[in-house]
Amino acid sequence: MLPGQGIPNTITEETVQGLEGKSIIVTGGARGIGLAMARGLAEGGAHVAVADLNAADARATAETLAVGGGKTIGLEVDVRDRSSVKRMVEATVSAYGRLDVLFSNAGIAQVRPFLDITEDDWHTVMNVNGLGVLIGMQEAIKVFRAQGRGGKLVNTASIAGKQGYDPLAHYCASKFSVVALTQAAARGFGPEGITANAICPGVVATPMWQVIDQGFQDHGLSKSPQEAFNNFAASAVLGRPSQAGDLTGVARFLASSESDFMTGQTLIVDGGMIFD
Ligand SMILES: NC(=O)c1ccc[n+]([C@@H]2O[C@H](COP(=O)([O-])OP(=O)(O)OC[C@H]3O[C@@H](n4cnc5c(N)ncnc54)[C@H](O)[C@@H]3O)[C@@H](O)[C@H]2O)c1
Repeated sequence: MLPGQGIPNTITEETVQGLEGKSIIVTGGARGIGLAMARGLAEGGAHVAVADLNAADARATAETLAVGGGKTIGLEVDVRDRSSVKRMVEATVSAYGRLDVLFSNAGIAQVRPFLDITEDDWHTVMNVNGLGVLIGMQEAIKVFRAQGRGGKLVNTASIAGKQGYDPLAHYCASKFSVVALTQAAARGFGPEGITANAICPGVVATPMWQVIDQGFQDHGLSKSPQEAFNNFAASAVLGRPSQAGDLTGVARFLASSESDFMTGQTLIVDGGMIFD
């Protein structure tokens, strides 16, 4: 027998296509990076469920995205709450007939000097960024299994999932956990045609950085608005901070059949801040 013979191709005919008609959920899709991803996917013809803690914004965003031939819906979700995540997945399957891709993108940031991080701070950040990603992946995998044709998990990690930064230590820990969950799921479910990959953005101009910038000022770590943002972004060799739209291409790639043979990977899209 030749090498590779007898190994089943777990990726079915139906998934070997572009984005057209794919059923995709984007958590944290109401604004920032999630919104840009959702827009790029919808423009590619995917059916996109924009899911967010902020239900009104999720619905408003979904309405603005109905552009590329795909359908869009806005859903309320709290990624920390399994029953809420189940409702999100069920509503998507009910609207589009199936689920093909879950983007676990919702996240929060918090600035704390290392020695000031409390147990409450740890749980607050980890519950959204770590546990929230785990629950989403678990509920999506159950549906992928029931459907029997594989599926794609795409998690938003960060360069903070690759490097530790002092006043963001618990945030970094949460993002390292996203990379760990991605790799574990890739190993665990690859044989069933379920892939898991992560995207690591750098310094992206979104509302999250307003929170981070303010946190740096509150703790006396920077003096003026935008100072921390500019200082962090200055190391990008491509010479500018990221815009949310810089993440659209990689999101489309990871949702499409172009990435079918890729799993367990973290793609850094940061304008060249860190090299892995
Ligand atoms: N902005 C950056 O520089 C940057 C860099 C690297 C990674 N990231 C990551 O990218 C993702 C998106 O970040 P962003 O900059 O767009 O942030 P953002 O704050 O602009 O948007 C985050 C969205 O997530 C939603 N959300 C928060 N908690 C939620 C919950 N419990 N359930 C459901 N939705 C919830 C918010 O309502 C919001 O719409 C996050 O995971 C973040 O950690 C951001």
